[in-house]
This record gives sequence, C-alpha cells and structure tokens, in this order.
Amino acid sequence: MSNTLCVDIGGTGVKLIVVDVDGHQLCERQKLPTPNPATPESILEVIETLTVEVPDFDRISVGFPGVVRDGVIETAANLDQHWPGTNLVERLQNKLGKPVRVANDADVQGFGCVTGHGVEMVLTFGTGMGSALFIDGCLVPNLELAHHVFKKGKTYEDYVGRDALESIDKTRWIQRVKRVIASTKEVWNWDLMHLGGGNTKILKNECFADNIRLHSNKAGVLGGYYLWK
Ligand code: BGC
Repeated sequence: MSNTLCVDIGGTGVKLIVVDVDGHQLCERQKLPTPNPATPESILEVIETLTVEVPDFDRISVGFPGVVRDGVIETAANLDQHWPGTNLVERLQNKLGKPVRVANDADVQGFGCVTGHGVEMVLTFGTGMGSALFIDGCLVPNLELAHHVFKKGKTYEDYVGRDALESIDKTRWIQRVKRVIASTKEVWNWDLMHLGGGNTKILKNECFADNIRLHSNKAGVLGGYYLWK
C-alpha cells in the first residue's frame, strides 16, 4: 500500500484528500477555512484535524501558496508573516510521522494536468494568482507572476486575485483574466494553457480557444500524487 495524503494550503481554505497508489481518490475532499492568523502552527493544526476522518496514508504531498525551496518556505504573500524560513517538510513530518514533499501550489496543480508536450503554462485563480511553467513535462519551479506589475502599477494578483474579484463585477473580472492570459501568451508563446483554482468556476461558460483548458479546483489537490511519482 502506498496511499498519499494530498494537502492544498490556500489563503481561504485548507483542503486534503487521500489517493491510492494509482492516484484514485479514496475519500471525499476534506476542507476547513484557513485559520486567522494563518501561522505555521495554526495551519499544521488544521491539517492534523482534517486527517482524523480520512483513510490511512503512507506519505504526504503539500501544495503551498508561495515559493518553496527544498521544503523550506521562502514567501507566503497571503498567509501569516512568520512563514518565510519555515521548514514545512520537517514540521509536518514531525507532526504526522510520515514522509513529506512540498511544492508551490500552482506547480502541484500543473503536475496534475499537463500533457507533457511542448510549453505548457498553468494559471490558478483563487485568493492569489498562481503560475507555473512546464517544458515537455519538466517543471520550471516557482514561476511567480503574481507579484509582477501588470498594469497601472498593479500586479497580476492585484488585478485578478480574490480582492479584485470582490471589488468589481464578474464580467469585468473575466475580461481581466482574458487580458492576463493574452499577455502571458505574448511573452511565453505557450502551446497549452491550463486554468485552475477556485475562481476558475466563474469562467466555465466562457468560450476559450482549444489550447486553453479549464480544470476543477479538485485537480489542484489531486496533483499532489505526482510529487511522489
Ligand atoms: C503566491 C504564489 C501562489 C499563488 C496562488 C501567490 O500570492 O505568490 O506562489 O502560487 O499566490 O496561491
């Protein structure tokens, strides 16, 4: 048995699921709101609480909303300020007693949805804006578009993140998302674009070109399976 606990730490919710050795889901996705303040301690506690109801697992994958290098958190724009410098691999391993792998959340989402051919980009729309780049299935880790200035002194995340969505109407937000996609196309000339994250559901009735694919938010959690492949 090699079941994987896949955890997705978000700015709004902490989600997890257990999958078997073939990546099949063994339980319903469990979710709790992200605690406030979202410190390392409080998030680790939420993860522990969520594991009470799930089947046994042998290893753990985590998608984290920031830059992650060798299991250590470097940035966490939408969580508490105490995250940078935290060794999440060590902390979670000590708490749950199982081996842990951690990567950026958009990178994890990408592992779950890329085809492995050509230049593929992933954008996720949730509390923040995640971005990931894959070349023939190989990840270029920690691509951080979110905090780059996009327009009129506003970053991509200011423009299409959760706060923007809450302050403008949906139609305008959709237009903004389309502008962001077009701008990434001009720079990276990707072959395939994957869109994920909780707010992608707002885009489900939009007509996109064939090389733009929408994925469910669950794909973000399930992608964790591939961190152990
Ligand atoms: C972070 C990214 C993350 C994205 C989505 C941004 O604020 O900088 O690393 O992927 O939010 O969670």
